[in-house]
Amino acid sequence: MEIIILTNEEAVAKRSADLVEAQIRTFPDTILGLATGSSPLGLYKELVVRHQKHSLSFDQVRTFNLDEYVGIPADHSQSYRTFMNENLFDDLNIDKANTHVPDGTMENPMDAGPVFEKKIAEAGGIDLQVLGIGTDGHIGFNEPTSSIRSRTRLKTLTKQTVEDNSRFFEPGEFQPKLAITMGIGTILETRRILLIATGENKAEAVHDMIEGPIAAICPASALQMHERVTVILDEAAAKNLKYQDYYRHVSEIQDELVKKHRPSDWIAR
Ligand code: GLP
Repeated sequence: MEIIILTNEEAVAKRSADLVEAQIRTFPDTILGLATGSSPLGLYKELVVRHQKHSLSFDQVRTFNLDEYVGIPADHSQSYRTFMNENLFDDLNIDKANTHVPDGTMENPMDAGPVFEKKIAEAGGIDLQVLGIGTDGHIGFNEPTSSIRSRTRLKTLTKQTVEDNSRFFEPGEFQPKLAITMGIGTILETRRILLIATGENKAEAVHDMIEGPIAAICPASALQMHERVTVILDEAAAKNLKYQDYYRHVSEIQDELVKKHRPSDWIAR
């Protein structure tokens, strides 16, 4: 894993956007994997700015989102489809027909996973997957003890995840406890991964992901088995890392290399 520790959320957003922008400028028909939650919001704002002010075009980009709630319609204010439209797609020149979110409204929600997997395969697989991380180490909605080879499927959320995400729902409002999520195996097949984590509440999960053993109890630790993962952290999220000094040292050396050779070696495909 490549670990980049930056001073604050703004720097994290800008650096993440640099990487996504380089990918899209090199391959305008990039297949992006996208995440919801607060972690990628700064990145999405930056991408909108780069689209509006610096002609970064999404007209050929296709996207696949990690997950979606089951039990609320796609046009519900808290669905992940609505989140993506409001926080990204509506402000880009992307064709909505090219944006895919798992279908949380199928009569039998167990059918949604295979349908989504087929769409990803038909598109030729995901070039660059953006991820956040839950406080319990989940990625997508792969909760602790999820199988490392799991595929897109129906998942029951933990009480902690429901509680973490309750801030988005009105008191007394129905809040889903089920979701369709890409599996860990699905995520591990993406060609490049960019994981973003900020804030002290992620410090323990970030430590377990990077420096802990590969274990189903911390689903994000499975990313240690992926060849090309970049983790971008602010200082608060990095605070429990034992090898912080080493990661900073590597970054300094890498930055020199970047000036000489990059961004070409960052691009996935
Ligand atoms: C949700 C999403 C995840 C996300 C996580 C963290 O559970 N399904 O994809 O990474 O929340 O959210 P946040 O970035 O808001 O902390």
